[in-house]
Amino acid sequence: MPNIAIFASGTGTNARAIIEHFKGHPRVKVNLIVSNKKDAGVLTIADNNNVPSVLINRQTFFNSSQLLTDLNNHEIDFIVLAGFLWLIPEYLIQAFPNKIINIHPSLLPKYGGKGMYGSKVHQAVIANKESKSGITIHYVNDRFDEGEVIFQVTCEVLPEDTPATLAQKIHRLEHQHFPKVIESLLT
Ligand code: GRF
Repeated sequence: MPNIAIFASGTGTNARAIIEHFKGHPRVKVNLIVSNKKDAGVLTIADNNNVPSVLINRQTFFNSSQLLTDLNNHEIDFIVLAGFLWLIPEYLIQAFPNKIINIHPSLLPKYGGKGMYGSKVHQAVIANKESKSGITIHYVNDRFDEGEVIFQVTCEVLPEDTPATLAQKIHRLEHQHFPKVIESLLT
């Protein structure tokens, strides 16, 4: 039975969509939430859904094997990044080869890379007068947003769109597709 850990630092709406999608699933379970922010909304979502969570800091994440121990204790097979901004260290990539994926709120390779996250992405898309944006689900490697693309879907960017309205469209696409793409990779 594949067990998923979700790494998230923000509100956690994608984490919630994934948890809800796999509730009662015969084969796949969300077994751990990992966050680096003690007041992140995702931790409340974990509590409300009885999913265990661990809080990490830079020291435990980059310079110790504590997280690996936590992941092993929860029998994690697959890692999903959903709004997690730290680069994934080599030891995790080696321990989970082709088993770490991320979601990014643009059509990579456009509008990706270090510092391109959240509304900064949507601001740049609108400033460049793009007619389309979308989401990218991709494998994670040791560089920001550069791993092999698994899935992309587009949405229109209208002249009246603002970063906030575009963010809403993108979130809707994420919630609609991310859980299903994860399921297709695991079953
Ligand atoms: C999503 O837009 C995702 O693309 C990006 O971070 C955001 C997380 O949003 N990587 P949420 O916390 O799941 O609402």
